[in-house]
Parts: sequence; C-alpha cells; structure tokens
Amino acid sequence: MPTQPRFLLFLYIFHFLRFITCSSAAEFQYPCRPPHHRSYPFCDPSLPVKTRAQSLVSLLTLQEKIQQLSNNASAVPRLGIPSYDWWSESLHGIATDGSGVSFNGTVKAATSFPQVILTAAAFNRSLWAAVASAIAVEAKAMFNVGQAGLTFWAPNINIFRDPRWGRGQETPGEDPMVASAYAVEYVRAFQGQNYYRSAAGRDRYKDGLQRRALRDYHVDDDRLMLSACCKHFTAYDLEKWGQFTRYNFNAVVTDQDMADTYQAPFRSCIQQGNASCLMCSYNAVNGIPACANHNLLQKVRTDWNFRGYITSDCDAVATIYEDQKYTKTPEDAVAAALKAGTDINCGTYMLRHMMSAIEQGKVSEEDIDRALLNLFTVQIRLGLFDGEPARNQFRELGPEDVCTSENRKLALEAARQGIVLLKNEQKFLPLDVHAISSLAVIGPLANSTNLGGGYTGIPCNPMSILEGLEEYVNNIHHASGCPDIPCNSTADFAEALSVAKQAEYVIIVAGLDLSQETEDHDRYSLLLPGHQMALVNAVAAVSRKPLILVLTGGGPIDLSFAVGDPRIGSILWIGYPGETGGKALSEIIFGHYNPGGRLPMTWYPESFTSVPMSDMNMRADPSRNYPGRTYRFYLGDRIYGFGYGLSYTSFTYKLLSAPTKLSLQESINARRRSNMLHRRGNNLEYVYVDEVPYCSSLRFQVQISVTNNGDTDGSEVVLLFSKASNSLKGSPERQLIGFERIHISSHGTTETSFQVDPCEHLSFGDEHGNIILPTGDHIIVSENIEHVVSIET
Ligand SMILES: *[C@@H]1O[C@H](CO)[C@@H](O)[C@H](O)[C@H]1NC(C)=O
Ligand SMILES: *[C@@H]1O[C@H](CO)[C@@H](O)[C@H](O)[C@H]1NC(C)=O
Ligand SMILES: *[C@@H]1O[C@H](CO)[C@@H](O)[C@H](O)[C@H]1NC(C)=O
Ligand SMILES: *[C@@H]1O[C@H](CO)[C@@H](O)[C@H](O)[C@H]1NC(C)=O
Ligand SMILES: *[C@@H]1O[C@H](CO)[C@@H](O)[C@H](O)[C@H]1NC(C)=O
Ligand SMILES: *[C@@H]1O[C@H](CO)[C@@H](O)[C@H](O)[C@H]1NC(C)=O
Repeated sequence: MPTQPRFLLFLYIFHFLRFITCSSAAEFQYPCRPPHHRSYPFCDPSLPVKTRAQSLVSLLTLQEKIQQLSNNASAVPRLGIPSYDWWSESLHGIATDGSGVSFNGTVKAATSFPQVILTAAAFNRSLWAAVASAIAVEAKAMFNVGQAGLTFWAPNINIFRDPRWGRGQETPGEDPMVASAYAVEYVRAFQGQNYYRSAAGRDRYKDGLQRRALRDYHVDDDRLMLSACCKHFTAYDLEKWGQFTRYNFNAVVTDQDMADTYQAPFRSCIQQGNASCLMCSYNAVNGIPACANHNLLQKVRTDWNFRGYITSDCDAVATIYEDQKYTKTPEDAVAAALKAGTDINCGTYMLRHMMSAIEQGKVSEEDIDRALLNLFTVQIRLGLFDGEPARNQFRELGPEDVCTSENRKLALEAARQGIVLLKNEQKFLPLDVHAISSLAVIGPLANSTNLGGGYTGIPCNPMSILEGLEEYVNNIHHASGCPDIPCNSTADFAEALSVAKQAEYVIIVAGLDLSQETEDHDRYSLLLPGHQMALVNAVAAVSRKPLILVLTGGGPIDLSFAVGDPRIGSILWIGYPGETGGKALSEIIFGHYNPGGRLPMTWYPESFTSVPMSDMNMRADPSRNYPGRTYRFYLGDRIYGFGYGLSYTSFTYKLLSAPTKLSLQESINARRRSNMLHRRGNNLEYVYVDEVPYCSSLRFQVQISVTNNGDTDGSEVVLLFSKASNSLKGSPERQLIGFERIHISSHGTTETSFQVDPCEHLSFGDEHGNIILPTGDHIIVSENIEHVVSIET
C-alpha cells in the first residue's frame, strides 16, 4: 500500500505547516482540538486525570518522551500536541526572566507590583492574596493571547537568613511563619483555589475583575487556573560569596534548623497552599545536590502529600556534575536527578544526556514515565488538553484585563501598606503640603522609573519618586548627587549641595539597587554604597531643616550614622516599590496615608559581615563567637529589629482574654504518657508534637484590643510572639505566633483575636529534627502585653 506512507507524510506536513503558521496565534496553545478532539483518551475531560495522563505517556515513543524533559518541551505533531514552555515568571507581576513570557504581542506591559519584601512588610494576608489574584488574571490573559505559559515559577520562599543575600528582596523575609503565610496566600490565589471555597472568596476578596472572570468557573478541587511553584528547595540563600557560588555551595544544615526554619515555608506552601510545583535549588544540602537529593524530594511526596511536578532550577541538573562534582559523568547526573524525583530540567541537559544514560543502563524508561506522569497531570489539571477552551477556563480574559486601573490601584495600595517609617523625630512627618515653599529632591534614583527590583517585567506606566512628588509640590529642584547607586564619585556633590541650600525641605533618596544585590550577586558590606553616606552627611550639613531620608533596596542597611543624627528628621524604607511607588511615597510624606509597614527582617550592623555567609546555622554559638541569625536566634546588636515600624499616631494595647493554664492530661492518655521520657525529675520537660494525639484540643484564643491615641486614623500590625521559660537547647529567643493588620480610627479601639495552636506555634525543632513542645510557662508577648500560659502535664 504505497499511498499510505505518502498520505501520512502529507498529514504530517499539513500539521507541521499549521504549527508554523499558527505559532503565535492563541488557539495553537490548545491541543485536543478537531480533528483530534476526544479521539484520544487524554483529550477526554470526562476521564479521571490520572487515566488521561497515563494514556498520553503510553502513546509516546522513547525519543518523544525525552524531548519532554526540558522547560522547552517539544511538540508531538502526530498527536496534535504543540510545544510548551514551562518557564514563566510572576514574582511580583509578569516578569521577563522566563522564556515562556514575551511582551512583543498585543500585551506590551504588565502591572509591576512592589517587590515581595515590601509587600510582605504590609503584614496583610488579604493584600497578599489580592496581589497574587491580580497577577494571575494578567498571567491568564497573557496566556490567552500566546504571550505566557500556564506554569509560573513563583513564589520565592527561602528564608532571608543573611542580610547580604542578593535575593532576600524576592522573599517575604526572615520569619518562617510569615514566609509560610505568604506562600499559602500567594499559591492559593494564583492557582485560583480561593474560588473553590466560594463563600470565603466572596467575603475576602473584593477584586471585581477576578470575580467576573471566575463567575462561571466550575467548583472542582483538582482544577488549576494556573500553576505556582514553591522555590528554591531547599536551604538556598547564597549567590556568590568568597569562594562559594550558588552552583557549588554545599549548605551544611542541622536537622534542627531544617525542621523549624528552612523547611517550614515549603511544608506550608505544599500542604496548605496545595502548590502544584516545587523547584529544587542549585546548592547541595549536607553533601547532596538538592535536585539529586532523593531523601528530601521523596519526603515531599510521601510526608507532605505533594501532587505536582518538580523542576530543577535552570541548569541545576548540569551543576550536579559540573559544579557540585557530585557525579563522575553527565549521564550519572541526569540519572541521579531523575531518580531522586526531579521531573523536568530547566535547560537542555536532560535532553542532551538522557539517551546515553539509558543506553548505559543508568535510567530506565519507567523512570521517565514517572516524571512524565507528574508533568502531564499538571497540564491536564490546567485544562491544556480539554480541547476548545470553555468560558469557564477564563477564556474571556484578554489584553484589556492587563494593566487595568484596578491593578494599578492595587499596586499602589501594596506600596502604601508596605512602606516602613523608621524614624520620625518630633513628628517631623507628615509635611503640610500647603506650607511648603520649595523642595529639593536629591539622589541617583530619585528620577528613576526603574524601581521594581529583581524579576520585573515591563511596567504599564512607571512613575519616578520625583514625578510622585511633583503631583503635590510645584517648586521642586532635583540633583542626583551621585552618578548612580555605586556612587563612585563625588563630582556631583556640589550641585546637590547648592540645590539643597536653596530649598526649604530636602528629601534625599539613597540605598540600593540591583547593582548591589541581585541574582548571582551578594553584598559584602551593609553600609550605603560608595560615597552615598558622605552625600547624606554633606547635604544634612547644609539643609535648612532636618532631612527626610528615603531608602531603596531589599537588603538591610547599617544606618547607624543616621539613626541618632538630629539633622535627619525622618527615615522611610520603600524597598523596591514598583511602578506606583513614587505616588505611595508622596502620599505618606504629605500625610494622605499613615504608614503602618513593619520590617520583615532584622537590620544588622556592619560588624555582622564578619560572620561567614556560608555558615547556615540559625542558632547562636557563643563558644565560637557565632551570634546566630534572625530575631529568633541572633544575640548581637541591631540597627532595627524584625517587626519594627512607626506610625503617625500611637497605639495602646490591652489584653482582653487568654488562658493561664492548658492541660496536656486530656490530650495524652496514661499509657502514652508513661512512655514519654523527656523528663526532669518528675516533670515532663517537653513532649514530641507527633506524640500528642489531640493537639487541636489545646488550641486557645488570645484577644487583644488596640486603641489609637492620636488624631490620625491608622493601620497597626499586631504581632504576637511567644517564648518558653523552660529554656531547652536551641529554643528561640522568641518566635512569632500570630500577626494581623488592623485599622483603627483616631481615638478609636479595634479588637482582634488570635488562635494559637500550641503544637504548631509554641513548638520548635530539637537536635534530631523532631518538633517539640516545651511544657511549663510560655510567655505571650505583644508590645506592652506580657501574659503567661502554663502547659501542665
Ligand atoms: C525549543 O525546542 C525546539 C525543538 O525541540 C527548538 O527548535 C527550539 O529552538 C527550542 N527553543 C529554545 C528557546 O530553546
Ligand atoms: C516574540 O518573542 C518571542 C520570544 O522572544 C519570539 O519567539 C517570537 O518570535 C516573537 N514574536 C514576534 C511577533 O516578534
Ligand atoms: C488541597 O489538597 C487537598 C488534598 O490533596 C484537598 O483535599 C483540598 O481540597 C485542596 N484544597 C484546595 C483549596 O484546593
Ligand atoms: C528626569 O528624567 C527624565 C527622563 O529621563 C528627564 O526627561 C527629566 O529631565 C529628568 N528630570 C529632572 C528634574 O532631572
Ligand atoms: C570606582 O573608582 C575607582 C577609582 O576611583 C575605579 O578604579 C573603579 O573602577 C571605579 N568603579 C566603578 C564601578 O566605576
Ligand atoms: C489589607 O489589605 C486589603 C487589600 O488591599 C485592604 O482592603 C485592607 O484595608 C488592608 N487592611 C489594613 C488594616 O490596612
């Protein structure tokens, strides 16, 4: 039958041409359209997801299977499957970093929200969810017009362990509870899961746009609007320091720190956030590269019930061999990664070395099938193989849903809520806009619209700080003072001083940008870069009134020179405030918004830089002069502490109710109790949380009222900490057990309550990595409140 091959060839060419000609058209992204529609089981939405994924795997040749093991997964034209790029980025808005996103179609820009560290400083869960929902709408809209994928590699939830880390800016900060809460809000909102619980969604999220898009969406637990990714797993927080790079670094981590610090946000991201992706990091963890770490990756599936796909960071499979030198050949590296549980490799290393790994007997086809099953399962849950996209798959979202005024307002709201007032001598701020005759605005970033930080895309309508201030004041003069943030020259000082001398008020914008801190780049110093400090001092010396110092950047800065200097009236930290940051800052300076952000990380003094960045220990060790890390363990001096931030008003706290005693008796039966040997004399010192069968019966409420003593309405972030008085080895100095941002009208009072779960909140890791709950007194602290809750056995 000579015609058949020719016919097949014709069909093949037909499809091939279709792919080429339609390659930028939206419909091309949906396989399972006619003529293939429903002719394959994987195209049949009425079948269970697993059946469909298995069927697809069974239809592929070995060569086709290997071609799927890259972020740039190949098309399978004979099955009507187009190529797919797994790599899109959405950290704080759709970013240009991933090859899956392009801004060269109908959509030319996307909303640039503040960098995560600033949004985290708002300590407002509903804000975090609203931002993630808005990013999701823009992401899906861009997918619909062929400018993005459906799989995004955010959030970055590594603990901001060291102030020098170049990517600390991308994270929600140093506290595991805050990072966990951020991860859960981001992932649920981004993946569209909040809307499965429609009642809660209606009450909590007011974003009309998203509501419209989701109106007809079917309630189905398995479905994903988009896929979010918890990264970078795990103990990743060093870029380049000394002889270490992120590619060759071996993070030596104790079981204790692993249990209650490094893994905590990942566990929440997966267990509570239901994330559908995990990214393994470049570094090794205790000698084994993260992407080849079978033990760590398998536990995610077995212990945390992870049901998504695992991607390597980009080229992190190559680094197993090339930088970590963990294997002797590239084939061993791809085999180690695949067998450990890495499903896909960002990059081409698996594509290039998998066939020879198979030929050498290091990988079996079943190993690949297992990975493909995870990958196709996520694509099917995303609706990619459902044929003609239905309205309920957000098909109606399009370019008009990107860069909307709603999203711009939300970006502004995030910047407002996050900005932290660090100093305000004698209520220097806010300034009365009507009483200002002239304003000098000094600093190399003051007239920059590039205020997004790492993983920024193309902002819709970026505004500089200068433009923001110009909306309020007419008589403004600007001088850069330094040529750029590195500020290697004092040549521009004279101009800045002359501008400063002539103005009534002076705002100086100093700090960091990506030349100091970014991917592949850690800092060595915590001081202001180059001659910036000299500039601030010189301007302070000539200005008529105290200065307003505005700090940019994600990492902490040793500001000790400015904290006590009366020539500096106010200090504001604005992080990387995104495209509306200039407006948010101006509103705060002129009193249209009362700042309420709090620092999500400790600000250390410069002396901290003598601590090796490569030392992963969280706990202090006085025997070797090691000061510990983050507010939970650090014993040294600080410039500003975790949770620090001022307001234009003042607040008084009052404890309304909290128990004084909790009894473990009811939660632990006698037989179990007699087996618990963690005792001192007759008393149990602590219990293993795993051994307490009814933790939930121990939950209690702490009710607090906060009164606003001033004439200005304000938001207050109420932070609840605990500390065990029974000090066991490695117990934290204190730890956050609850946070809530509340609004309080001037002279008004607002009540808030926290539910505390002792097993979750009052516990920490022991030296073996078990979570333990100390018995005896726990001190609950919030501002001036101190209350003792005793856990009795
Ligand atoms: C993606 O893979 C295809 C073939 O599988 C190749 O032609 C294309 O150049 C790749 N694109 C990128 C960006 O690597
Ligand atoms: C848009 O950019 C992508 C990736 O950079 C490229 O592959 C594509 O050809 C571009 N399309 C147009 C219309 O320029
Ligand atoms: C999260 O996953 C669990 C189990 O996999 C499921 O029972 C639950 O409904 C999911 N939650 C959401 C919000 O999708
Ligand atoms: C600010 O920057 C813009 C564009 O770069 C420039 O046109 C403008 O003159 C600058 N403004 C001042 C006051 O330097
Ligand atoms: C900074 O200045 C020094 C000498 O003044 C010069 O050697 C160095 O290259 C400069 N660095 C940058 C980044 O311009
Ligand atoms: C928290 O954020 C939401 C969403 O932006 C906002 O509506 C709410 O007012 C914020 N809460 C406080 C107390 O600022």
